[in-house]
Amino acid sequence: MKLTQLPAWNALSRHFQSFHALQIQDLFTHEQDRFDQFSLKTDDLFLDYSKNRVNAETFDLLLKLAEESEVDQFKQFMFSGEKINFTEQRAVMHTALRNQTDRPVFVDNEDIMPAVRKVMKQVELFSEDVRNKKWLGYSGKPIKNIINIGIGGSHLGPVLVSDALAEYGQKDLSSWYVSCSDINPVLNLLDPETSLFIIVSKSFTTKETIANAELAKTWLLEAAGDQKAVSKHFVAVSANSEKARSFGINQNNVFEFWDWVGGRYSLWSAVGLSTILLIGMKNFEALLAGAYRMDEHFRTAPLKQNMPTILALLGIWYSNFYGAHSHAVIPYDDRLKQLPLHLQQLDMESNGKSVTRSGKTTDYTTGPMIFGSPGTDCQHAYFESIHQGTHLIPVDFLIALNSTTSSKDRDETLLANCFAQSEAMMRGQSLQEIKAALKASGHNAGEIELLAPHKIIAGNKPSNTLLYDELNPGTLGALLALYEHKVFVQGVIWQINSFDQWGVELGKQLADQIKLDLHQKNPGQHDCSTEGLMKKVRLGKL
Ligand code: F6P
Repeated sequence: MKLTQLPAWNALSRHFQSFHALQIQDLFTHEQDRFDQFSLKTDDLFLDYSKNRVNAETFDLLLKLAEESEVDQFKQFMFSGEKINFTEQRAVMHTALRNQTDRPVFVDNEDIMPAVRKVMKQVELFSEDVRNKKWLGYSGKPIKNIINIGIGGSHLGPVLVSDALAEYGQKDLSSWYVSCSDINPVLNLLDPETSLFIIVSKSFTTKETIANAELAKTWLLEAAGDQKAVSKHFVAVSANSEKARSFGINQNNVFEFWDWVGGRYSLWSAVGLSTILLIGMKNFEALLAGAYRMDEHFRTAPLKQNMPTILALLGIWYSNFYGAHSHAVIPYDDRLKQLPLHLQQLDMESNGKSVTRSGKTTDYTTGPMIFGSPGTDCQHAYFESIHQGTHLIPVDFLIALNSTTSSKDRDETLLANCFAQSEAMMRGQSLQEIKAALKASGHNAGEIELLAPHKIIAGNKPSNTLLYDELNPGTLGALLALYEHKVFVQGVIWQINSFDQWGVELGKQLADQIKLDLHQKNPGQHDCSTEGLMKKVRLGKL
């Protein structure tokens, strides 16, 4: 049945009509236990979702929507290796990468766990050799710099985890992440004798990655003067080992992953090699274990106590009923500064779709625009728009309870700002309150009339607050898996395939064509805007 024909959808539409004018603050006045009622703890995370425009009835209806959308059944399909990515005929098995049990996991009637364990063992042995200085460069020196060359999921996940867990890193190893930018400025800072390049590409055909990998290879060969040096300084992580080999990488140095791991879900696989080199396999295993704890919570907790489901339903409530187009993720934790970028790909490449599983155009909106940056930077940039702008922007606040920085005072400043922002968003400041404050600070009547309307903060802005005890590999794993499953539930409810990404292909094809056409007049190939822009390139001036 179409989403908009489901009984729960229609009940939610009716509920919205009578409910939408209600203020969150009034809900708090009438529901003294709201914090207890709308909060939830898992092994690693605590979620306060009480500052949302929901009451018990809203929540019951949203849960009904999840039931009628068969979220539990689709979950079962995913965990059991069904090819739910049906447009690419692929299973979706990133959860197998963090399976902590002896439970077999089948794809096409084959248990994939032995292959997963074999590759991770290979990664572990390799990483230990590098970390213990047994792996030497062409001139006999140990590795000091690790350069991850990759883009999208082959970059965003690893850079996020390495950054977030930097304090677990081996001190004499440094990491560099190069995606589409020119690698040369990085190479200029490095010594070829002590540099290890990891070429990460599921397809091993991604233009940006291969171009930078070629530049790095040339740079190395110029210094080493011997083709054999490549095998000491280049390894690959890819689902296309043949292409990696033809690039010149030794078969033993190609770490495999599989078509049932989507790029944006791949940080748990050998794609995490750069992170493993820095923090060691033990810490990486703790990351996987944290993700597994969230997988188990997601798999087994009833919908109403299921953290990813709750976040997903709140997102649907704002996107589809309140018309919110965006969603902000704000970590009050510098170590998570890369998280919003990773979530941008995870969420927008997964749920930025407008065709349902049955091939029909949706008559409702799907995935919102995801953005964010660490607090308090964001407060001094775009929070004005959240407090006083015309768009509704729901926010997830994230913060550690314990020691995020070297100073207790700074930690408490961060906590205070994080809690203050969600309180201010919810509470706002009324005209009467502002007038009283202006009067108390000595403003005259004329000044009060002029100023007061500009200072009104409407309030009633929704937010979630996610707490973790401390940022360690386990809590980070749980946090990332939480968002993966949230995206999954939303995709199920929106009736889309969250696991393909056909939308990015056309641009790639056109870029290939335009590169060919850039220097030759090829009338009729392109529209006059594109042709006009290309002509400027040919002329070399504006
Ligand atoms: O173009 C989009 C995309 O395919 C992403 O899904 C992927 O993470 C990224 O490009 C990189 O792809 P690859 O790992 O194959 O180089």
